[in-house]
Amino acid sequence: MTAKLSVNINKLATLRNARGGNNPDIIQSAIDIQNYGAEGITVHPRSDERHIRYADVRLLKNVVRTEFNIEGYPDEKFLQLVEEVRPHQVTLVPDGPDVLTSNNGWDTLINRSMLTEITQRLHAAGCRVSIFLNPEPSMVEGAKACGADRIELYTETYASQFKHGPEAALHRFKKTAEEAVGLGIGINAGHDLDMANLNYFARNIPSLLEVSIGHALICDALYFGLQNAVQMYKVRLQSNFGDPM
Ligand code: PXP
Repeated sequence: MTAKLSVNINKLATLRNARGGNNPDIIQSAIDIQNYGAEGITVHPRSDERHIRYADVRLLKNVVRTEFNIEGYPDEKFLQLVEEVRPHQVTLVPDGPDVLTSNNGWDTLINRSMLTEITQRLHAAGCRVSIFLNPEPSMVEGAKACGADRIELYTETYASQFKHGPEAALHRFKKTAEEAVGLGIGINAGHDLDMANLNYFARNIPSLLEVSIGHALICDALYFGLQNAVQMYKVRLQSNFGDPM
């Protein structure tokens, strides 16, 4: 099974916001990215709306015909937005409003009652729930106990250690993925995945269902174009990528 590529379009919103107009047009970009082959669109609305805006999320609902994944910190404003928009998946991220980008996974043991309550609320809205986790097997059991459908592995440490040795970089992720498979909880992954490190990750975590990728893919699109970049990431999700013909 090949993992799905969900493209995080926050970076396009950041570019648009830099000039105050509507270039690039986020809604058209989402339509195009799906036409180019992406199997999902991810957005990460933050309370200060410095990247994607709440109004964008509402409009995107009308054009996302693949999988719509909304990730973010579940404060009341965020929860009301996702209850209104009802995306296919909500990824819960523990980042505060002041962080530059997501920089940690949940402690699912300490936050168990809060995450359980929120998961029930999101299930009632018809959304699948994924919980952003560090590669820590003990946290998977906590996620399962909260009722989550999936975990999203926070791949920053994999990406930063990859160049020093892919096998060692992946070790804890493999262990965490094995735990998830044993508990019957689905596996997503994201953060700092790029053209160089993606295939090794996907190939060695065969139960991977979905990756969400923003920064590197949009940077690569500057060189290769958006359509090529989407395709280049998709082929790197295939298990036989790089095999001799
Ligand atoms: N997953 C989560 C929870 C994130 O917060 C982000 C960044 O917004 C990503 C995945 C994608 O990370 P990147 O932009 O490094 O591909």
